[in-house]
Amino acid sequence: MSNMDTNGVGHENGEVEALPFAFPSRFAQIVGWGSVVPDKVITNHDLEQIVDTSDEWIRSRTGIEERHVAADPKETTATLATEAARRALAVANVPPSKVDLIICSTSSPEYIFPATACLVQDALGAHNAGAFDLSAACSGFVYGLSMARGHILAGDAEYVLVIGSETLSRVVDWTDRNTCVLFGDGAGAVLVAASNVPGGIMASELGSDGSGADALIIPGGGSAMPASLETVSNGSHYAKMDGKAVFRFATRVMASATRDVVEKAGLTIDDVDLVIPHQANKRIIQSSVLRQLKIPEEKVVINVQKYGNTSTASIPIALCEAIEEGRVKPNDNIVFVGFGAGLTWAACAVRWSVPVDTVGKASWWTSTRRQATYQAAAARSMWKRAMRWVYEVLPTDPEGRPIWPEEEAEKEPAAEEQ
Ligand code: UT7
Repeated sequence: MSNMDTNGVGHENGEVEALPFAFPSRFAQIVGWGSVVPDKVITNHDLEQIVDTSDEWIRSRTGIEERHVAADPKETTATLATEAARRALAVANVPPSKVDLIICSTSSPEYIFPATACLVQDALGAHNAGAFDLSAACSGFVYGLSMARGHILAGDAEYVLVIGSETLSRVVDWTDRNTCVLFGDGAGAVLVAASNVPGGIMASELGSDGSGADALIIPGGGSAMPASLETVSNGSHYAKMDGKAVFRFATRVMASATRDVVEKAGLTIDDVDLVIPHQANKRIIQSSVLRQLKIPEEKVVINVQKYGNTSTASIPIALCEAIEEGRVKPNDNIVFVGFGAGLTWAACAVRWSVPVDTVGKASWWTSTRRQATYQAAAARSMWKRAMRWVYEVLPTDPEGRPIWPEEEAEKEPAAEEQ
């Protein structure tokens, strides 16, 4: 049966009228992946020196043993995001110029505006890409996958970079033991591509409940409470959390979102080969995915012990690790499921379709060419900044075009002649 045969408008008499065009078979496949964490590691024992806590408490309540933090001020949400994106492009062997859209999910953006995604676009030299930030907290990466799928299936994009990047260590109060022991920094990215190979991101399930907005919040620095001496002195610019409320919500939605997305994808829980849940707390994963859904531990990725809660970056970081460990194979049904501030939750069901054994096999020439591409991107960015400065200092004609000194010199005698 051709595509044409399957597309039509149904009439009440049961006849189907063929539409004058055919829907192409288009799928959104994950074809590249990459992640990065800062070098600096803070162990639970290190935290014992900072706040009134213990390695035993943190391990038993969360499963966390250590986390990576961006100790170097030059290491930011944008630099981590850029590195993760470069790695994803390298795996896919796709140049930045082919990327149509960059979605950067983050709760610790470089600035309130502009979007961190735009800084990544510039650093990559992805000069054909639109770019925006996505604010859905720890669910953001999965929201981003859903957005990428939508753009690709609508025919608006061929390649979409979805990035989750955080430097939560910069918005955490290091004197508040309720939060500072939980979070870590890092970034992960995937390249989603239009493909005619069936599978890829098959279904998504997104949810929100703003009545729980206060449960996890940075109250200061926004429109409701603009930054002031007072907001800084009373610590309103730090993350505040009602841990118990978030815990109860998380255990409920992780199970239901997984069930719903699996059903939407036409699968059963038994068909799922791997679950990659948001890594906030080992107990949340155990109580929702393992106990409520009865999914065996070998089908669930847990790495919270090494990274803490890296918010929106946790799922792509865990994906990359699962790939490295050989836990992802073509034709696997994989569920990504997350929850977070908002409150939000999100799940995606993915039929994995690409081989994973090509990672790290780039030739010397390919790596050199890639490096050169990024150096050229940096040079182009500097040139554009310089030109912008030039435009600022030069006089402009009525259409806003700069008048170069020689043009002005040429014009002057003409004016005198008149
Ligand atoms: O990505 C989404 C982000 N957020 C989350 O996922 C958080 C979800 N919530 C959780 O993971 C858990 O609720 C926590 C790990 C945050 C807390 O675990 P809990 O078992 O719910 O502990 P609790 O809040 O009930 O606190 C128990 C006790 C309290 O002392 P009292 O009042 O019983 O004397 C806390 O003050 O543990 C105390 N406590 C700590 N003790 C040592 C809280 N934090 C610490 C700490 N070290 N770091």
